[in-house]
Amino acid sequence: MNLQEEIKKRRIFAIISHPDAGKTTLTEKLLLYGGAINTAGAVKNNKIRKTTTSDFMEIEKQRGISVATSVMAFDHNGYRVNILDTPGHKDFAEDTYRTLSAVDSVILVVDCVKGVEEQTRKLMEVCRMRHTPVMIFINKMDREGKDPFELIDEIEKELNIGVCPYTWPIGMGKKFKGVYNLFKKEIQLYEGDKSTVSESVLRVNDVHDPLLKKHIEQDAIDKLADELELASEYFESFNMSLYREGYLAPMFFGSALYNFGVLELLNTFTEIAPCPGPIDTLQRTIQPDEEQLTGFIFKIHANLDPNHRDRIAFLRICSGKFERNKFYFHTRSGKKMRFSSPASFMANSKSIVEEAFPGDVIGLYDSGNFKIGDSVTEGENLQFKGIPSFSPEILREVVNMDPFKTKQLDKGVRQLTDEGVAQLFVQQPGNKKIIGTVGELQFDVIKFRLEHEYGAKCGFHATPYIKACWITSDNKKELDNFILRKSVAITYDKDENPVFLAESEWVLKMAKEGFPSLRFHNASEVNKIVEE
Ligand code: G4P
Repeated sequence: MNLQEEIKKRRIFAIISHPDAGKTTLTEKLLLYGGAINTAGAVKNNKIRKTTTSDFMEIEKQRGISVATSVMAFDHNGYRVNILDTPGHKDFAEDTYRTLSAVDSVILVVDCVKGVEEQTRKLMEVCRMRHTPVMIFINKMDREGKDPFELIDEIEKELNIGVCPYTWPIGMGKKFKGVYNLFKKEIQLYEGDKSTVSESVLRVNDVHDPLLKKHIEQDAIDKLADELELASEYFESFNMSLYREGYLAPMFFGSALYNFGVLELLNTFTEIAPCPGPIDTLQRTIQPDEEQLTGFIFKIHANLDPNHRDRIAFLRICSGKFERNKFYFHTRSGKKMRFSSPASFMANSKSIVEEAFPGDVIGLYDSGNFKIGDSVTEGENLQFKGIPSFSPEILREVVNMDPFKTKQLDKGVRQLTDEGVAQLFVQQPGNKKIIGTVGELQFDVIKFRLEHEYGAKCGFHATPYIKACWITSDNKKELDNFILRKSVAITYDKDENPVFLAESEWVLKMAKEGFPSLRFHNASEVNKIVEE
């Protein structure tokens, strides 16, 4: 198979949802259909379980297991499907945002009872920013949920995306009979059986086909006919370019728990989801079929085994062919590197790969060379755009509790923040380190890991800040003036970009008004500040 063919058959995506909507269940069912696992429960056992308190020890234990589910690959209908796992826990949202930079599309799972939830909104903001194509799976149709029209309305309004129903539900909850595929004109009958993976399909000419009456009561057929008529007037029809540009989301209804609607979703996904396309770098746009290898690191799992300081860096391949034992160029350090045991991940097993293609993710064993956002090429100096850091919501100062271990603390804090556990902002003079996170849990994780992996002891002091904003301006004089005037609240991120820490929304508002030529950004990309 040549490079073009390898690219065309690859689909790399992430499943996103608010916790509990059914992401793990759906992932597992996709893997079952893809033949990557044989029994239900395999992924579930790897899931970072919901914790009501700061139960980070449990998360630490599971971190080792979850590396296996970071990437799950399987083959389906001649396609190579790569699912990137995103942690469900909200305190790890930053990790999810970065993973979204490595996928070509997403499947959004929405619980039909709960509708759009907080995490759904946040994750979709990231997708919109990146114009990621989205497919929506309305899950738990075996339960009494919201009316489909109400759900679509809510999604369109709250997530700011057009919705195009691909299937339409016939009843719900106890009366759920199946779905009607608006494009293929076929009915899939719901069996309500968790143990089977087959989906029985009834081909019909339209909703008035007499065949339907054999399986579905007249009331339900009439209701379906009415709803379909209304839906055809009310909703947009499917448009491939709008989907591919991230403006229109095809929607499916089903029940992951009861294996219903999943195969339909997977089949349509492989048909319409984009294969790896061009990717922007600061220098130029990379085409996937370029001969030379390019890729970037979007995730790092460090110190899985404290006795061996090895880390796994996850490389998304963007162009060319990756080959084991070939020398590649690490652009940030300028070093040549060779990887003797690059790993690929098939559900819960890991194996060494000889070669990999655009749209694949491989795990590279690393002794501390990689940072998130690093590029690997065959010699060209490239920096990929679009690996975001978001404005952290909790900011605390690191306090060294053991002065004899200052070096270890510095190294640990740098490495953990390189790995993306949290963001580091340094304030001068005094080299004051402020850690920013999206969740409380991260502070426990950092403290624990600094002690166990680096032998350093630290505490955290509260700061008065509630928000970190990257600042830029075309007017250098005014930027310098701002930095001087607000020096007590100015810090620098790991790429030396100035970041303003605001004590309140009001302080931020006053700063914006007082310095109109300055731009305050909620997110920065590793190599570029993101325009709002
Ligand atoms: P998440 O990864 O998005 O957090 O969700 P997960 O798949 O773990 O599902 C959350 C809960 O919802 C689980 O129940 C799961 O069994 C249930 N669920 C998932 N899909 C469906 C569905 O289609 N219908 C119904 N009725 N339930 C569904 P749990 O009680 O929290 O866990 P468990 O004891 O079943 O493992």
